[in-house]
Amino acid sequence: MSRTMFERYGGFGTLSKVVLAFYERMIDSDVTGPYFDGVDMRRLIDHQTQFLSQVMGGPKAYTDEQLERYHAHLAIAPAAFDEAMELLRDTLEDFSFDAPDVEVVMESMGGKRRCIVAPGSTGPGTDRARGDSGGTRRAVP
Ligand code: HEM
Repeated sequence: MSRTMFERYGGFGTLSKVVLAFYERMIDSDVTGPYFDGVDMRRLIDHQTQFLSQVMGGPKAYTDEQLERYHAHLAIAPAAFDEAMELLRDTLEDFSFDAPDVEVVMESMGGKRRCIVAPGSTGPGTDRARGDSGGTRRAVP
């Protein structure tokens, strides 16, 4: 009963397959793909793994402050967050996750919206997205 969804669906074994499928959708999308331009593949796969682990109650969880710091320079538009939510839903449905579990994941992800989204942004290519405002993230442990 106390097992997390992460454990019930096979931990990192299943998760790695879900990650790959989600990754392909995020990259193929004209809305979310551009945010990952110039991000190397390994970091991108890491991102998707951590992302899913977080929203499914996996072992590694990030604080809201960390999530804000990681995404602040990216100027993620509200529409891109919505798109990522939809792509994740489609992916979980493809892997036959139970409907109530899909809703739990959607709620968990939706709850992080304000940490990820830059409210006024319309997408990558804005001043903030180009990193003009800093880019100090990698110096932070
Ligand atoms: C609840 C949703 C999300 C979670 C939990 C999450 C989690 C993370 C984490 C943990 C990192 C840091 C990775 C690292 O450097 O070790 C990160 C970075 C990043 N995230 Fe997210 N993320 C979310 C949503 C999004 C969305 C919607 C986008 C784009 C549409 C996005 C794009 C990125 C990019 C481009 C990076 C930087 C990758 C790099 O330069 O290494 N994230 N995210």
